[in-house]
Amino acid sequence: MTNNAKNILVLHGPNLNKLGQREPDVYGTETLDSINSQIQDFGKSNNCKIDIFQSNHEGELVDKIQNANSHDAIIINPAAYTHTSVAIRDAISSISTPVIEVHLSNIHAREEFRHKSLSAPVCKGQISGFGGYGYILALNSVVHI
Ligand code: DQA
Repeated sequence: MTNNAKNILVLHGPNLNKLGQREPDVYGTETLDSINSQIQDFGKSNNCKIDIFQSNHEGELVDKIQNANSHDAIIINPAAYTHTSVAIRDAISSISTPVIEVHLSNIHAREEFRHKSLSAPVCKGQISGFGGYGYILALNSVVHI
């Protein structure tokens, strides 16, 4: 890898391990494994080293955010914690690494409780509504912006 190689952390929040089986009318039929292999393919073609982690536990996601010093950027889908977690928001605020928030569904077009993201205001930006391709859009923003 050359000097300008990027080191990126992708975090998937709760229930995203169930993609493919979970509410396919909302989230589609693509599995998390399939999304992750597209993320890794992007990394190989774009000189990025990408670490991927999924957890159903808020504190584990907080630990990963706090310990991301060696990463150039974090891409996170906090899933349901988007709407509830002051802890994840505060962890994002506590680091200088840029964070991009991704949602598979368009959270603004769904139930009202999903319209509010506690984390988006402390992120560089939010991508919502493009399914698994949202992660590729976020990776492109890290590489090109
Ligand atoms: C989600 C949207 C959240 O509201 C929901 O709780 C999820 C997935 C998405 O990717 O569309 O679990 O983050």
